[in-house]
Amino acid sequence: DWTMAGYREQAVQAIRDQVGDAKVICGLSGGVDSSVAAVLIHEAIGDQLTCVFVDHGLLRQGEADEVVTMFRDHYNMPLIHADERELFLGELEGQSDPETKRKIIGKLFIDVFQKHAGEVGGAKFLAQGTLYPDVIESVSFSGGPSVTIKSHHNVGGLPEKMGLKLVEPLRELFKDEVRALGRELGLPPSFIGRHPFPGPGLAIRCPGEITREKLDILRRADAVYIDQIRRHGLYDEIWQAFVAILPVRTVGVMGDGRTYDFACALRAVTSVDGMTADYYPFTHEFLGETATRIINEVPGINRVTYDITSKPPGTIEWE
Ligand code: XMP
Repeated sequence: DWTMAGYREQAVQAIRDQVGDAKVICGLSGGVDSSVAAVLIHEAIGDQLTCVFVDHGLLRQGEADEVVTMFRDHYNMPLIHADERELFLGELEGQSDPETKRKIIGKLFIDVFQKHAGEVGGAKFLAQGTLYPDVIESVSFSGGPSVTIKSHHNVGGLPEKMGLKLVEPLRELFKDEVRALGRELGLPPSFIGRHPFPGPGLAIRCPGEITREKLDILRRADAVYIDQIRRHGLYDEIWQAFVAILPVRTVGVMGDGRTYDFACALRAVTSVDGMTADYYPFTHEFLGETATRIINEVPGINRVTYDITSKPPGTIEWE
């Protein structure tokens, strides 16, 4: 008779058996998978675990604070908060190609992680929130031709380079089971139900060149949009929702004046696994109200569009 409480106990024991009294480091993104993995491992081995949270300057409004507060203050976990905003944004300056941006971010992420993990003297294990579908996906194309649409960054190759063994306590679970385990471990429901957020963060929601100005505008617009979705009780019906700031300024009129500001696109999709997706059928009323709020509340944006492309042929993110 299989229960999540039983799984939790068994997983905790398995982690203790595997790790013994060695130290473990875990990259924490604030996403559901790495968060559940961290809490489970912390339950098993306490302060033998240190988490590393890398702030690449491409997070959403308030996100870094939320993650650090929850894990350091609420769960009392040893946590390294690596503020590397200057580094990432500096290296990304002038880059506009989506894959180049991903490669820069992926490489810096590994460098930074390695640097801070080095501070945890003597760690022997690296923890990852790898799920069963990730395990399958990484072998499903073997032998056949594979087409890479986007090179999602991961820490492949890092454990060997650092001489670390992997701890992957979620390897047998699907996403819905990870969420159930998170609930079982007492993670707040608002955290467990969060929409997925890509590793390269806002970089791929800012098509073309990334500037601090655009990122600030994007963060504010995104916060208003998500607030609208929550107020209307739609958050849990949607797989992912976000704003993309477009690399174009358009002319508008506000009060007695002409404006010349950025245009943005709202995106919201339903999906089961992110592989295919349908655009979300918001009412015109919702869209109109949201556009008005964004333009009134976010200086720098004077035009709002809604992306009605499904996947395929579109992808969920704009880059
Ligand atoms: P696409 O845009 O390919 O996205 O339809 C499918 C899912 O993957 C996420 N995504 C990424 N996640 N690194 C990540 O960790 C990436 O480079 C990346 N690109 C897309 C996207 O948010 C969606 O959930």
